[in-house]
This record gives sequence, C-alpha cells and structure tokens, in this order.
Amino acid sequence: MTAAVRLQPPHAHALKVRRMDFDFPDDIPEFWYGNDPFRTLLLSTLSAGFPEGERFFIDSVRHFRDRISDPELQKAISAFIGQEAHHSKEHDVLNRLMKQRGYNLGRIERSVTIGTQMFRERLSPERQLAHTAAVEHFTAIMAEGFMKDDSIFGDMDPRLAQLWAWHAIEETEHKAVAFDVFKQVSGDEWIRLSQMALTSAMFVGYTSYDFWRLMRDSGYGRDLGLWLKGMDYFWGRKGVFRKMIPGYLKYYRRDFHPWDHDSTSLVERIKRKYLGDKA
Ligand SMILES: [Fe+2]
Ligand SMILES: [Fe+2]
Repeated sequence: MTAAVRLQPPHAHALKVRRMDFDFPDDIPEFWYGNDPFRTLLLSTLSAGFPEGERFFIDSVRHFRDRISDPELQKAISAFIGQEAHHSKEHDVLNRLMKQRGYNLGRIERSVTIGTQMFRERLSPERQLAHTAAVEHFTAIMAEGFMKDDSIFGDMDPRLAQLWAWHAIEETEHKAVAFDVFKQVSGDEWIRLSQMALTSAMFVGYTSYDFWRLMRDSGYGRDLGLWLKGMDYFWGRKGVFRKMIPGYLKYYRRDFHPWDHDSTSLVERIKRKYLGDKA
C-alpha cells in the first residue's frame, strides 16, 4: 500500500550536517549534568545506546532508499544519514570518557547491540523502519523538551551542553525523515502504531534496567535521597519527562505528522545560543 506523503517545506528539509569534533578533556567534571550522579548517569545511559541505535536507524531507512522517487526526500535521507553518523561518532567520544572514568557503558553498548541484532533478524524491514520512526519521535519530543527548558543545558558543563544541544537541534531538523519514508513505502497504520507501542515498552524497560544497573555498580543503588530527587526531576509534577507525555501521545493519532508541531523558532534560538559559527 502506498500512502501520500505530507512534506512540509521548508522545515522538512532544512537539514544540515555539522561536523563538531568534540574533544572532552580531563577537566570535565565527573557529574557534568547539575553536579548530579543521577542526571549524569541517566544521560550517559542514553548516550551509550546512541551509536549502535543510530546505525540501525540509518540501515532501516537506507534499505528503502531506492523506492523513494521524491528528490527532496532523497536529499533529506542523505542529510539524515550524515547527521546520525556524526551523532554516533561524537557520542562515542563522550562514552569513551565515561568508560575511562570507570562507568560500565560497555555493557549497555553490548545489550543495545544484542537488541538491534534481534530486530534485524526477526522484524520485517517495514517494521524496522517503523521502529526507527517511533524512536525518532521519542528523540524529537525529548529534544524539544530539553531545548524549551533553559535550565537543562544551563545546568550542564558548557562543553557537554553544546553536545546535547547540537544533537537536539539535528534530531528536530530530521524528525520527519524516517516517518515520511515509512509513509511512502508502507503507510500501514497497524504497523506504525503497534510498533510504537512495542518500541515504547522496550525503550522504557531496557533504558530503566540499564540505568539502574549503572547506578548500582557505581555505588548509588541505595542512595534513596538521590533517587527521590532524580525521580522528581524527571517524573515529578514539573518533571522533564512528564511534560513530554502529551507530545508522545500525539503519535497515536491517525493524521499525525511530526511537523504538525512547528519547532523551527525554538531550534533557531538554540542554534544561536549553542552552535555559534556552526549554526
Ligand atoms: Fe541522533
Ligand atoms: Fe535521529
């Protein structure tokens, strides 16, 4: 089944591949996010999953590339692949720093690799692409949540703030690419929605488990005060993640498109603030 693709230029294709070449020196504080082990290790858990996860996203989109006739969407696919490849490379730099400091991110990298391998073997290419579109929605709402709240990047070491701001900007720029490819090559709503439900359960479940093990092995497993403060920060009444729930649920609407929600002006502001001449 082929569905019409709703592209919304100029946003849908305003993608730029930026080469950042981060180098995180030894004077980066151990807890670079709010001087807080909970927040720092939670973002490190996500970071550990990015390189392998993003390779999977690239492959799942590339698989269908020759079925895309729209030249604009072809250009967007090239930029999407370039952006994700650079995210993997730069998050590897952060992951290496954390590993040098004794945090077991290697185990998370291995478990994510096992998960993507299982998906590659057991899911149809169409479902793999639906998985990518689903995670891209996760990253887009997370990126927007982070960009909207000045205190988040403001609480990070400025060099780490630049990494996360850059990643958030590009996730927003390419938020519709995998979705548009899926709509063009399949458009099957059952696959799109059921895969989102499956991906959500796996993403939340595995990330929580990996994070808990990282906290435990780093000596913070039983620090109740730290856990309460961290849970309140992310999931409390004004919690960073809690605020993202309405945006998450919009994906389940039949007529949903990532650019129904225009985040262009927000991206422009964060680009000016954190990317300087790389904006
Ligand atoms: Fe990315
Ligand atoms: Fe992405």
